[in-house]
Parts: sequence; structure tokens; C-alpha cells
Amino acid sequence: MTVLITGGAGYIGSITTRLIRSTGRGVVVLDTLENGRRKAVGDAPFVQGDVADTNLVERICKEHGVDEVVHFAAYKAVGESMENPTKYFQNNVTGSQKLFDGLNRAGVQRVVFSSTAAVYGTPTRVPVREDDPLSCESVYAETKLMIERTLGWYSKTTNMRSVVLRYFNAAGASQDCTLGEDWRHSQNLIPHVMKATLGFAPALKVFGNDFPTPDGTGVRDYIHVEDLAAAHVAALDHLKKGGESITCNVGTGFGTSVMQIIDATERVTGMKVPYEIVDRRAGDPAECYADASRINAAFGWTPKHSLDDIIATAYAWHSSHPQGHDS
Ligand code: UD1
Repeated sequence: MTVLITGGAGYIGSITTRLIRSTGRGVVVLDTLENGRRKAVGDAPFVQGDVADTNLVERICKEHGVDEVVHFAAYKAVGESMENPTKYFQNNVTGSQKLFDGLNRAGVQRVVFSSTAAVYGTPTRVPVREDDPLSCESVYAETKLMIERTLGWYSKTTNMRSVVLRYFNAAGASQDCTLGEDWRHSQNLIPHVMKATLGFAPALKVFGNDFPTPDGTGVRDYIHVEDLAAAHVAALDHLKKGGESITCNVGTGFGTSVMQIIDATERVTGMKVPYEIVDRRAGDPAECYADASRINAAFGWTPKHSLDDIIATAYAWHSSHPQGHDS
């Protein structure tokens, strides 16, 4: 059993690669290394290349005996996607279609895909369920939804089956502090909190405290990256057992505000988090957290890590790796 992991040198990809290997599966990582780091892959079989190279994909699948795929490789900066939509449509959507073509040619039929809660835009209710209205508010989100739909059509028209995982807010680092996110390439809250806390950036900017939430700051569903990785293993197992194509939220089901993240960081690290309240960021919904009952019912998956684990591992990782894997 060998899993092709695209984008396996990235933040979530590298942590998932390591977990998949620990379950006894073989892997081969395909990554351009444009944003990923070779070091994050360790001694796993690795090919530097692009998912859009259909011939390469077909060859890797045949040479490594690939029968399952986890597809992470994508651009993910929301702001950049609005400034350069073509870059995102080409890399994420066209690239994925070329990947799927290569998989088809090689006869690979089981795909787990990294999607995002951003496909809900501003949710019509929280906790948000998979069958609630979809309303992409960025090109990035739209590219993920287009890939979801592409996979849906492949499921109907070929033997390919897929699990679409809609991630909520992935955060934290590996427990052993060897794999984590590079804050130089992240716009997300927790890396920014750590940067300010550790004195690598001026005060954290809190984007608005006048939302209709209990303390006025934005509420999200922070999921430990190792729990997220475990959801991929559960998804692979589901497909291996003959399970049908399915789309699942991957979140904790609990909302946490920006102020609660700041408070938890101060409690867990014993450090002060310098912050200032600034205007809301365009496009930010007040609240977004998952109804995670479908993934629990389908795979028996539940998150194991607490918010304190997220903060503690993020702090340990960022304080020891201020340049990410280049540290
Ligand atoms: C963002 C993206 C989303 C993407 C997700 C994961 C936007 C609008 N959404 O989600 O498409 O799928 O990341 O990569 O960019 N915050 C601050 N100060 C900061 C950073 C964030 O106050 O410096 C607040 C935000 O307003 C929000 C919360 O922290 O309330 C979480 O923000 P973030 O980590 O950027 O995630 P999302 O906005 O949920």
C-alpha cells in the first residue's frame, strides 16, 4: 500500500506524511518545494515536481505502486488569490485536473482532498454543516470548491472515490517540536500571536472587537494539526474499506475568540501577548465553527488535542524555529 502525498513538504502535509508512515503505509511525496521544505519530509521517498505534470504523476504512481492519494498541494494565501486570480486558478484548479488525469491513467482510484471551511464564506448558521449553503468569498475558496466539484464528477463518471476534508483553522505543531508552520509564510492568527509574544513582531493586530460575538472578537474553530492529520488516515481507511465518496468538516465543533486565544497564550506560556485593536479585516465572518458530527459518524474520528496543546506546541515550535525549517 503506497500513498502519493502531494504537497507533503508543507505544514499540514509533512505532519500527515509522518503519521501515515507510522500506520505502516508506504508513501511517496510530490512537492515543488516552492513553499514546502525538503527537510520536513525527512527520509520519506520524495520527488520534486509539479502535480500538473501528468506524465510524471503517472510514472510515479506506476513506479511506486501507488493506490491512494492525499492531495494537499495548492496555493493558499487568500489575499494573493484576489490580486492574482489566474495564478490560483491555474495552479490549484488546472493543476488538480492534470493530477487527476495522471491518477486515472495509472488506475489510482482513492483520493483524499484538502478543502477548506472558506467554501462556506460567512456561514448562514453555526455550527456549520456540510450541506449548508456554500458561498465562496475569495478566489482561493472558489478554487477549492471547483476541485471538490471536479472530484464529485470523477466519482460519478469513473471508478475514482474521494474524501473531501473541509479544514477549519489548522494550528499547533508536532508534539516533538520537529514539524510546524513557517510564520514567514502564514497570515493566520496563531503564528502572528507567537511572533508578537516572542518579540519577532510588533503588537498583534486584533482585527475588530465589535463583532456580534460574546467578547466582540472573531470566533473560529482551531484544530490541532495532528488531529487534522489523523482525519486523513481515517479517510484513507474509509476508502480502503470500500467506503463511498464523502465530504466532511474537520473541526472541533467549538468556537474560540481571538481574545480567548490571547488569554490562553498568556496562561500557557506565562508571557504577555502585546496586542492592539484595529479595524476589521475585509471579508472576515464573525463566527465560523464546525458541526463535526458527520466525520465522527462516518470514520469514528474525534479530536484528541485541547486548545492548550495547540498553544503549547505552537509556542515550542516557533520559539525554536523562527525561520521555520530553515532555522
Ligand atoms: C483564513 C482564511 C481562510 C483560510 C484559513 C486557513 C481569510 C479571510 N480567511 O481563515 O480562507 O482557509 O485562513 O488558512 O483570510 N486575526 C487577527 N489578527 C491577525 C490574524 C487573524 O485578529 O493578525 C483574526 C481574524 O480576524 C479571525 C481569526 O483571527 O477572526 C482567525 O484568522 P485566520 O487565522 O486568518 O483564519 P481565518 O480568517 O478563519
